[in-house]
Amino acid sequence: MAEGKGSRRRMTLGDSDERPDGDLRRQTLLPGGPAATAPLMAGARRAPALVWRPGVAGAPPPEQIHVQFGADAASQVAVSWAAPAPVARPRLRVGLAGDGYGREVLAEERVYTDALTGEIVHTYHAPLAGLPPDTAFGYQVVHDGAGPVAGTFRTGPRGRGSQFRFTSFGDHSVPAPVGRGLGPHTPNAGYIVDAVDALDPLFHLMNGDLCYANMSDAPVATWTSYFTNITRSARHRPWMPAAGNHENEVGNGPHGHLAYRTRFELPGNGSVGFEGNWYAFTVGAIRVLSINNDDVCLQDGGFSAYRRDHVPGYRAHGYDPYIHGYSHGRQRAWLEAELAAAQGSEAIDWIVVCMHQVAMSSARLNGADLGIRRELMPLFDTYGVDLVVAGHEHHYERTFPVRGVLAGGLLTPAPRSSDPTEMDTRDGTVHMIIGGGGHSVLRPAVDPGAPPEGVLIVGVGPGSPQSQRRSVITAEPAPWSAHRNLATPFGFASFDVVPAEPGGTTSITVTYHGAAAGSRVYAPLDRFVLRKPVGATRYPRDRQLVTG
Ligand SMILES: [Fe+2]
Ligand SMILES: [Fe+2]
Repeated sequence: MAEGKGSRRRMTLGDSDERPDGDLRRQTLLPGGPAATAPLMAGARRAPALVWRPGVAGAPPPEQIHVQFGADAASQVAVSWAAPAPVARPRLRVGLAGDGYGREVLAEERVYTDALTGEIVHTYHAPLAGLPPDTAFGYQVVHDGAGPVAGTFRTGPRGRGSQFRFTSFGDHSVPAPVGRGLGPHTPNAGYIVDAVDALDPLFHLMNGDLCYANMSDAPVATWTSYFTNITRSARHRPWMPAAGNHENEVGNGPHGHLAYRTRFELPGNGSVGFEGNWYAFTVGAIRVLSINNDDVCLQDGGFSAYRRDHVPGYRAHGYDPYIHGYSHGRQRAWLEAELAAAQGSEAIDWIVVCMHQVAMSSARLNGADLGIRRELMPLFDTYGVDLVVAGHEHHYERTFPVRGVLAGGLLTPAPRSSDPTEMDTRDGTVHMIIGGGGHSVLRPAVDPGAPPEGVLIVGVGPGSPQSQRRSVITAEPAPWSAHRNLATPFGFASFDVVPAEPGGTTSITVTYHGAAAGSRVYAPLDRFVLRKPVGATRYPRDRQLVTG
């Protein structure tokens, strides 16, 4: 069953078209006219419209402002925000940095009702298209009766002309208790935002488990805390998410993702009802694919005893947080088509996958998931994925390039090189676990001095919507593990992309920045380089998929 993208409140008069895919999203220009906004609004299709909203006196200010790239980061950016009550004429003023706000765009309102508390959440989205590449913009978010809130963004470079940096981590949580404090929270969940922002990345990848709202008695307030925490960075640079198991808030839509999907404005995936669950965008010569692994994972990771016991109508409505297989192959088909297109593109040098649960792990927290190995790893091998960034395991670990599997029946990925500092991803895919964003489980229960031992979820025991399935776990050799850090509980990675080096190569220098609990200091603790010839994505040098 498809999942709606949040209800769209009718904001305009005489504005009733639908996209061919049934998605109701749209952007509407303010009176002043399409001609006035044309340079920024190549994607706009609607005429100016009148707006009717209730009174505006004492309107609450815009909050939780964050930006996202569209499918083409060089020309498409969306600005999103929220308000604690409906507002009149939500809109975006935007212009070239330092050149005022010459264009005005009316935002779309999307709402959802939280199944636990009954609160209605009002979100606003203003997608922009037709922007020039590698260009800085300033904007103001505004609605009637409240002062503007300012932000900035920069479009991505086009092609191989510019170096840039991006950053990544997963498993963030919030910086202070919300509600009864049932969900995770640490001061580092706040500090890491400043540490990321200090590196001035072009964009950030959030590898799932954003705020753990599904564990909270106050999920809406948890989301508010989350966006309030990240907005000081995310209103200036895209924080592009992947949905993790804790984005599954059972009762919020058929698969629990309605809050996540309503709050973000993400590139389309051509589906009806799964918009935002998986998507892709191009930045420079990198194709980034964000996917939702709950579709393929065996683990029962979305279960929440609190929601089972407190969401009204949980049993009567048949709510079920175990959503394994929910897309019925749609996501995998989309992923294969996207990977084939990226591999065949002369404009793409790097294929990066952002996802939550992992294919390999040597930490005894959750374990890696056999479902990922079955469903996704053959695609990563076939189409030459260069890099996977993930979370779910709350430590830092990275692999050698892997391709194919070792003997033994567990589909254990086979390492294809042994140099831990410089890797050629024509050999295989490098996987990174970057799960120390802020969750308060400080370290996995593994002896840091022991050699790495892989932990794999191979199935689940009996369960139901009322009773969580227990993971069936086995151990395996871990020759794929190139480096891990179990002692430093919090951290993120930065990626410095050089699209064209002397000698015809391109590189990504990866640095892991880690911090102790309670520390604001994120120090570089690990560094390695991915390097290969420009254009090599189309020509993997090792097609051998199975080894002995
Ligand atoms: Fe997590
Ligand atoms: Fe997780």
